[in-house]
Amino acid sequence: GTGPFTVAIDGPAAAGKGTISRAVAAEFGFAHLDTGLLYRAVGAATLAGEEAVAAARALDPAGFDEALLRTGPVAQAASRVAAMPEVRAALVDFQRAFARRHGGAVLDGRDIGTVICPEAEVKLFVTASDEVRARRRFLELSGKGHDVTEAGVLEDLRARDARDAGRDAAPLRPADDAVTLDTTRMDIGSAVAEAVARVAARRRAG
Ligand code: CDP
Ligand code: CDP
Repeated sequence: GTGPFTVAIDGPAAAGKGTISRAVAAEFGFAHLDTGLLYRAVGAATLAGEEAVAAARALDPAGFDEALLRTGPVAQAASRVAAMPEVRAALVDFQRAFARRHGGAVLDGRDIGTVICPEAEVKLFVTASDEVRARRRFLELSGKGHDVTEAGVLEDLRARDARDAGRDAAPLRPADDAVTLDTTRMDIGSAVAEAVARVAARRRAG
């Protein structure tokens, strides 16, 4: 099909949203947007002294340096600016246009199924226990040479999840019609297979 088809993938930090999103996008030839990078870019700008709302309005998603954005301090800064309604508002149009582009799109974040694209054809809420998510993110960051501890990563994830779920503006929560995918005891291949099967079933249903 060539019309819009949106897959919304939400969930807490390091649940596997990005990994699953990339695999689903590759399987169906959809475009993928990691919306966390938008908030990380605004967070990074504030760490460099910029004002959050101005940075959000001036954002250029084509110019991101992912390696610089995927650090613990930037993640914390992202979570702080993400609680500001004006920051979220500045990022809505870009995300909605991406979601409804022709040829299909996968977006992952916190509020895709609830706020950005409530009409998404498939909504998944990907989760796993705190300890398993911290272990995975620790292995990922330490593998890239970052100086992190598993306890420090766990603390970071818990602080962000609490802030993200507790805020008034687009809080982290599953949409009423989302399917929850708990990957605590699932390897990445099984999680991807489950997500792909859900999308394939919805495609067949038309
Ligand atoms: O995008 P999000 O922060 O939700 O998670 P991710 O970056 O896709 O996944 C975090 C880390 O966990 C990555 O290194 C994945 O390869 C790993 N992972 C895993 O080992 N098993 C899963 N079922 C899901 C993710
Ligand atoms: O990869 P990980 O799950 O650790 O984080 P991320 O998806 O890159 O998101 C970083 C932060 O941006 C989150 O902790 C949220 O505060 C915020 N965010 C958001 O508020 N809404 C989104 N749609 C995506 C991210």
